[in-house]
Order: sequence, then C-alpha cells, then structure tokens
Amino acid sequence: MQTFHTISGLREALAGERAKGYRIGLVPTMGNLHDAHLELINIARQNCDVVVCSIFVNALQFGLNEDWDKYPRTIADDTRKLTSAGCDYLFHPADIEMYPNGLATQTRVVCPTMTDVLCGASRPGHFEGVTTVVTKLFNIVQPDEAVFGIKDFQQLAVIRRMAEDLCMGVKITAAPIHRETDGLAMSSRNGYITAPERPGVAVLYTTLQWIAQCIREGRQDFAALEVDGGKRIEAAGFRVDYVAVCNSKTLEPAALDDREITVLGAMYTSAARLIDNLSLTLEDRG
Ligand code: PAJ
Repeated sequence: MQTFHTISGLREALAGERAKGYRIGLVPTMGNLHDAHLELINIARQNCDVVVCSIFVNALQFGLNEDWDKYPRTIADDTRKLTSAGCDYLFHPADIEMYPNGLATQTRVVCPTMTDVLCGASRPGHFEGVTTVVTKLFNIVQPDEAVFGIKDFQQLAVIRRMAEDLCMGVKITAAPIHRETDGLAMSSRNGYITAPERPGVAVLYTTLQWIAQCIREGRQDFAALEVDGGKRIEAAGFRVDYVAVCNSKTLEPAALDDREITVLGAMYTSAARLIDNLSLTLEDRG
C-alpha cells in the first residue's frame, strides 16, 4: 500500500490507474480503524480494481465542545490493518492540506432540512462538515464508487442526497452494521465507554430491536414507542438524546402508511455519544 499526504501526489498516482481503465473505490474514514472499517475496504475491493482509504479527523464536523482533540489517532496501527486488508492507497492529509485557507472561510456544502433532525439537532454544523469534507474527498479521488456504513444512517442518507442533488456521478454503496457479540455497533468512540458501563450499553440496540418488533406486530403508536424506548435506555442508566421512528428515505417521522421504516437512537454514556439504527420493511397490510 502506498501512502500519500498530499492531494497532488495522490491525484498523480490515481491518474495512472484511471488511464489503465481501472475502477476506483473510496472508503472515507477518520481512522482508529476497527473490523467494520475493514469490512468497508473489503466491499470496495470486491466492487473496484483500486481501493483508496482516507484517514482524516475532520475538524469541520466536530462541535466546539466535542472530541476533535482527543479523537484517537492510531495511524501506525491503521496502516498495518489497511495493508493486510489489501487497500492500495492511503490518503492521510494534514489539516493544512485539506483546509489551506482555514476553517472559518471554507466554502461549505449544505444539505438542508434532512440535517436539522436527529443527530443534526444535537450536533449543529456536524453534517455540513461531513458533506463538505466528503465533497472535497470526492473531488480529490474522483472515485467511481464510495462505501459508507449504515451505522451512520443519517450520514449515509445525507451523502446519497448530496451526491444526487449535485450530480456527483459517484455510486454510493451502503455497508451493513458490524456489531460486537452483544449487539453494540462497533465504533471508534466505543473506546470512551468505561468498564462498568460496558455491559449495559447494548440497551441501545435491544431497545431498537424491541421497537422494531412492536411495529412488525402491528403497533402504529410510534410516538409512544419512542417514549417507552427512551425509558428503557434511562432505566439502564444512560441519558437519551433521541429515539425516533422515521421514514427510511426522508428521515421524517414515520407516517402510518410508510413501508420502509428505520428506528434510530442516540444515547450518552459518561464520555461517549453512541448511535445505532435498525431498518424494517413492512408487508402491505391491505
Ligand atoms: P468514521 O466514523 O471513521 O467512519 C468511517 C466509515 O465507517 C463510515 O462510513 C461509517 O459509517 C463506517 N462505520 C463505522 N462503524 C461502523 C459499523 N459498526 N458498521 C458499519 N459501518 C461502520 O463517518 C466518518 O468516519 C466521517 O464522518 C467521514 C465520512 C469519514 C467524513 O469525515
């Protein structure tokens, strides 16, 4: 695997690959790679001839009181993992390479409405930071395909919408959620969970499963399910950010005739904010 820190170096290498007619796949990450990230690399390898992984802890998507400075940076380990996973190129730029004019005056990409709800409500500006950096990465790599995890369901929906709205011509591929054995979705932020908290955090997933099961059994009082779901999480000792039953495509509150439904949740441990989601398709009840 070849590592590039500059946009020009990576572009030159990829121009050579493109000239050979190779299909280029991109997996954007913030590093501290775990098995779920490597699964994304695997999917990109299956679908493309050349795989690029980017590792960039993007300050633009972190709020002022969030964990940008303490976000785990484990580049040596990450490089080893990517090499064994068969990744071809690692793009690992410094902040100055990605934002040479600083953050304050950086041109932004905004996907309205969809980013005001759920995680966007508690993390103002977060998705603007994501869409902006992903646009930059798309422009730098010009991938045929980019792979994102369903774990960040809202992020995936926003990126799909952005790519469609701005005619980006990149195929967006969704990778299934990779979980620990007790159901906890893998995340770089799981390292912030304390040992006493660890056994309880699976409550986020079990709550979403409970709500999904209730809906499959015919319950349609989504608002009540959201409240009861929140109570289950609180009873396990965690603060709830949101529990929401949504239309899978628009992320608006699910309507009674929606068939594609996603149940999403976010909760706080003492030092982490964890998110998860579960999608279900309802048969037409006629
Ligand atoms: P990061 O949190 O590093 O995640 C990189 C990719 O891995 C994302 O597409 C995310 O959805 C996926 N991923 C993480 N944990 C996963 C899991 N348990 N199962 C499946 N996929 C998982 O998401 C970001 O970085 C950033 O916002 C980024 C898109 C790179 C823009 O800065």
